Amino acid sequence: MKEQDGRMETEESMTAENGRPEETYAEEEIRRRLTFAIISHPDAGKTTITEKLLLFGGAIHIAGAVKSGKNSRAAVSDFMKMEQERGISISTSVMGFSYKGRKINLLDTPGHGDFSEDTYRGLSAVDSALMVIDSVKGVEERTKKLCAVCRMRSTPVLTFVNKFDREGKEPIELLDEIERELAMHICPVTWPVGQGRSFKGVYHLTENRLLLFQAGQNRRPEDVQALSGLDDPRLVQLVGASAAARLQEDAEMIRAVYPAFSEEDYLNGSVTPVFFGSALNNFGVAELLDELVRLAPPPLPKPADERLVRPEERKFSGFVFKIHANMNPRHRDRIAFLRIVSGRFLRNKMYYHVRADKAVRAANPTAFLSQEREIIDEAWPGDIVGLHDTGMFKIGDTLTEGECIHFKGIPSFAPQIFRLVMNADPAKEKQFHKGLDQLAEEGVVQVFTKFRQPNVRVLGVVGQLQLEVFQSRLENEYGAACKYEPVDLSVAQWISSKSREKLQAFAEANARRIFVDVKGNYVFASDSEWAMNRAREKNPDIDFFETSEMQKRAP
Ligand code: G4P
Repeated sequence: MKEQDGRMETEESMTAENGRPEETYAEEEIRRRLTFAIISHPDAGKTTITEKLLLFGGAIHIAGAVKSGKNSRAAVSDFMKMEQERGISISTSVMGFSYKGRKINLLDTPGHGDFSEDTYRGLSAVDSALMVIDSVKGVEERTKKLCAVCRMRSTPVLTFVNKFDREGKEPIELLDEIERELAMHICPVTWPVGQGRSFKGVYHLTENRLLLFQAGQNRRPEDVQALSGLDDPRLVQLVGASAAARLQEDAEMIRAVYPAFSEEDYLNGSVTPVFFGSALNNFGVAELLDELVRLAPPPLPKPADERLVRPEERKFSGFVFKIHANMNPRHRDRIAFLRIVSGRFLRNKMYYHVRADKAVRAANPTAFLSQEREIIDEAWPGDIVGLHDTGMFKIGDTLTEGECIHFKGIPSFAPQIFRLVMNADPAKEKQFHKGLDQLAEEGVVQVFTKFRQPNVRVLGVVGQLQLEVFQSRLENEYGAACKYEPVDLSVAQWISSKSREKLQAFAEANARRIFVDVKGNYVFASDSEWAMNRAREKNPDIDFFETSEMQKRAP
């Protein structure tokens, strides 16, 4: 072995494919990958848009496949009775398809109105995001939360303002809302001509193309008109004098207010290009997908505690960002979702499980193609593979070819819902504790013990559903029962200090509000945002953090 650029190289090399040098092959495979997630509030149109994207990518052939897939997938996977009863998909799954030469991995985030940490963690496995906003409702709560996670990681975000076939907020009002509520700069790429009943289409501001809207109809060649500019006389013929005048006025204002599009600003996550359309009418979605494949970054380097790991490194590395339990209750199996960060991943090869400090074989890894899972022989950076797991993996685990790497960016997020948790069946004390420990390790909920009172345990979650999932899995998998009691807490933040003494003194002085997470970190919890802010102001020596990774300070 020899060391090169901070990484270990072996003499053994990858096989060249189709006579191409192996480096070129690897580079091409990496450059082709595009791994992204759609972030939105429920009902904004995520499922509809996913379906259109999959149709364009040839991954499905009939409209409605994704929606019905939601239900049938739940029936097949049957990973929890609850999921079936509610007909919802609690999990984050992955869909793969190809478009214009790129191999796209789309991470689906939970479809239910509720929210879980799984959704946040899914964003650690993508290189960019597509944000869908409902033009009638504007920026909604869930979008704000997800966008904050993207901002924290500087993830590039493209924005699609949906449902322009309906009477909604004015486009300029929507842009203001995005800038204000999401603290992101924007750059309109297309611009709507009319809205609702008078929606005539969208105008591509840089390419001077007019896309004419026909509700419920497939696009005809004459619906795409290349113009010489906004003063092209055909504009009036195509959309009418008043809509043309309004568009000219809007475009002038946009040029004056918003800076020209900069790819660099998009890639560093500071500007989001904005598109308008109607997913249901498949209008503006092709333009969006074209821009996505043109702009969205290939797999990005990922920071680890030890160093920055680059996708083009020869040696494989990847991390587990999600564990999906009991896909099949008869086998009680679990699937660990592994995001590949560097090198080529091969089926049946032995890899190093860093936390467990042992070798594991990647037998029968699966890729997720549309709604199917199929066994694969190799995978590349950006890809997500499913590994059969018998309890070997935890969220955040790393697999490598021998190097000790701990990837950053898979933290726990500050919970917003808290419950005291107690064993409800004294005869099952042992099972209760085992379930509590294991389900917390798996990331189903966060468990905090009260400072100086280790027998008092509080569950912290970001969505109500996590509490139900925990209770149901405790019963079904561990034969134990728990009960919840309300607790006077609604905000929590991890705390640290440069001075250990000051941290300890703060903890002792606020013992009632201090909890300890599974890693032994202190968490300050309170009953209001106001009280949290006050604690921050009064204690300048204590640092407060929104995530367990303690990178970004709370504002
Ligand atoms: P979600 O996954 O983000 O929760 O949203 P989903 O795609 O399921 O869309 C939510 C509702 O909004 C659906 O109506 C869908 O048809 C509608 N919708 C999506 N895009 C558009 C659009 O561009 N224009 C209009 N007018 N509606 C749109 P639904 O009645 O809840 O469901 P369905 O019966 O139509 O399936």
